Amino acid sequence: MEAELSVGQVAKRCGINVSAIHFYEQKGLISSWRNQGNQRRYARDVIRRISLIKAAQQLGISLDEIHLAFASLPSGRTATKEDWADLSNAWKQSLTQRIIKMQKLKDLLEGCIGCGCLSMKNCPLYNPDDLLAKQGPGPVLLNNQDTE
Ligand code: FES
Repeated sequence: MEAELSVGQVAKRCGINVSAIHFYEQKGLISSWRNQGNQRRYARDVIRRISLIKAAQQLGISLDEIHLAFASLPSGRTATKEDWADLSNAWKQSLTQRIIKMQKLKDLLEGCIGCGCLSMKNCPLYNPDDLLAKQGPGPVLLNNQDTE
């Protein structure tokens, strides 16, 4: 087994494009070094890291969240089963929170379907000219649903 991999080998092993590898590296999710021929080389653990990235992305975990989670992993070694358990537990909680929020949004949207009032006072979808900006960024009426 080779100790270090070229970008092409990593791409082939992970089933992704070389550009994706460069993108992950640019985002600080993986790292490489240059050999004497000035070609990028990757440690073997990059395969597991990319697998984790792909799995997390399937769950809708953002690259920023993945980056944060990876910061807890010791660099230079392959993520262990325990590492994965810790990461997946944290992501599971995040996923559960998002499912709850999406369910609430779905319920709110069901109230709007067929209504069409777009009342700035009552409709969670409407905020013309950002009139609710003083209450916070984004869809304030929707965000207020989080605390209920
Ligand atoms: S459109 Fe009427 S409450 Fe949203």
